[in-house]
Amino acid sequence: MEGWFVTNSMARVAQSESDTNLTGRRAEWQARVLDGKARDILARDERYFLRQSVSTPCLNAIARAEGIWIEDTAGRRYMDFHGNNVHHIGYGHPRLKAAIARQMDELPFAPRRYACDTAARLAEKLAAIAPASLSKLLFTTGGSDANEVAIKVARIATGRFKTLSFWDAFHGAGFGAGALSGEALFRSGPAAPLVAGASHVAPFGCYRCPYGHPVDGAGQPDLARCGLACARMVEYVLEREGDIAALIAEPARAVPFLPPPGYWKAVRDACHRHGTLLIFDEIPTGLGKTGRMFACEHDEVVPDILVMGKALGGGILPIAACITRPELDVAGEWAFGHYTHEKNPVTTRAALTTIEIIEDEGLVENAARVGRAALARLDAMKSRNAAIGDVRGRGLLIGIEMVRDRTSKEPDRDLAEAVMYGALDRGLSFKTTMGNVLTLTPPLTVTEAEMMQALAIIDEAIGEATRRRSA
Ligand SMILES: Cc1ncc(COP(=O)(O)O)c(C=O)c1O
Repeated sequence: MEGWFVTNSMARVAQSESDTNLTGRRAEWQARVLDGKARDILARDERYFLRQSVSTPCLNAIARAEGIWIEDTAGRRYMDFHGNNVHHIGYGHPRLKAAIARQMDELPFAPRRYACDTAARLAEKLAAIAPASLSKLLFTTGGSDANEVAIKVARIATGRFKTLSFWDAFHGAGFGAGALSGEALFRSGPAAPLVAGASHVAPFGCYRCPYGHPVDGAGQPDLARCGLACARMVEYVLEREGDIAALIAEPARAVPFLPPPGYWKAVRDACHRHGTLLIFDEIPTGLGKTGRMFACEHDEVVPDILVMGKALGGGILPIAACITRPELDVAGEWAFGHYTHEKNPVTTRAALTTIEIIEDEGLVENAARVGRAALARLDAMKSRNAAIGDVRGRGLLIGIEMVRDRTSKEPDRDLAEAVMYGALDRGLSFKTTMGNVLTLTPPLTVTEAEMMQALAIIDEAIGEATRRRSA
């Protein structure tokens, strides 16, 4: 029992993935805001769901989700700037709902041993939009599974079993994906013992460089001074271990942190030199979030394997995919991605239609355009607000760091949390990451006007929280 408590308290200290669900401020917000219906649903939810950090108990109960909006049981509407990164095309897109309904009538399921046209068409589509020659794939139900498929492919292709990934990363909740992850919350307690051979390295993250290198006055890395220490450390580990099958990482970290210029090219080259495959986990960033179809396109680096999920199912159905170079089709005698819904016509129809919607509605371009406008507005907000230590992002993956002091960069988690609840009061929902980073990941359908409205809300909420503190 003692062990449980130790582990549990450790997980709380190491809290980094999201805002916490156990704070006094949350209790106060709920007491003030929730209606009877929401209280009833939350009570039943807590009665039956196993409690777990950052999930249950929940914040509120929702009754509707449409476009960029979620609506709670009291009819309060919130722009959803979190959405678990599943809602690229907005919730309940009419074209997607119609396509799913038609597919359920035509062919609701394909048992193993049978191919179906929809799954084949999705495969063709993904091969067409994926970078370079990536074209052999498997579908899974969730991203965690797809990452594990990627690792199995790498093991078989290289004859090695070790992996390298980033501290602080999240790659999923399975034992394999959990071992790749770099957060105590997902690695310790019930997740341990982990899969053997999973090494970690400190990631890039220039504003808070783990290697201690400062950024310049504009918040940019000083490459002449740091010499891309973060990339050199990857090579150092690859060389020391000598037999790492794969490096798996998010090309743009979800915190968010963006790679310094040249980082991925240097790491790509290091992987080549050491016979290590490069796997990009684009589960949250893929399909347009960063203003390019895949985040790695910004860095002009092609991985050996790319994993996508989340928004692939259009925010309605669960589906993920692992797509590889054709030369990695080397595991024909093994069954390593043998999932019940591997070729489900309905989930593959959802994915196919989602990609068609992203293309037909120009959503990748919209993400790039609205993201640029947002960063410009946030830079202006930063210039007149000392509590904002840094703003950064690409497309619609945006982070705002709340700090107590710009020089010490001490994270201001209390202020970030106050801002989050202040924004909820004004109709905007987002999550904080690492406690102090307001993380905005709206749907790709968001308009510039809606984005500006959301940023005005954040501006107001920061003003209010700062005034309250000094009062
Ligand atoms: C980067 C990354 N990889 C993997 C996963 C796991 O995906 P899933 O929850 O579908 O298993 C997530 C989910 O948040 C993620 O953000």
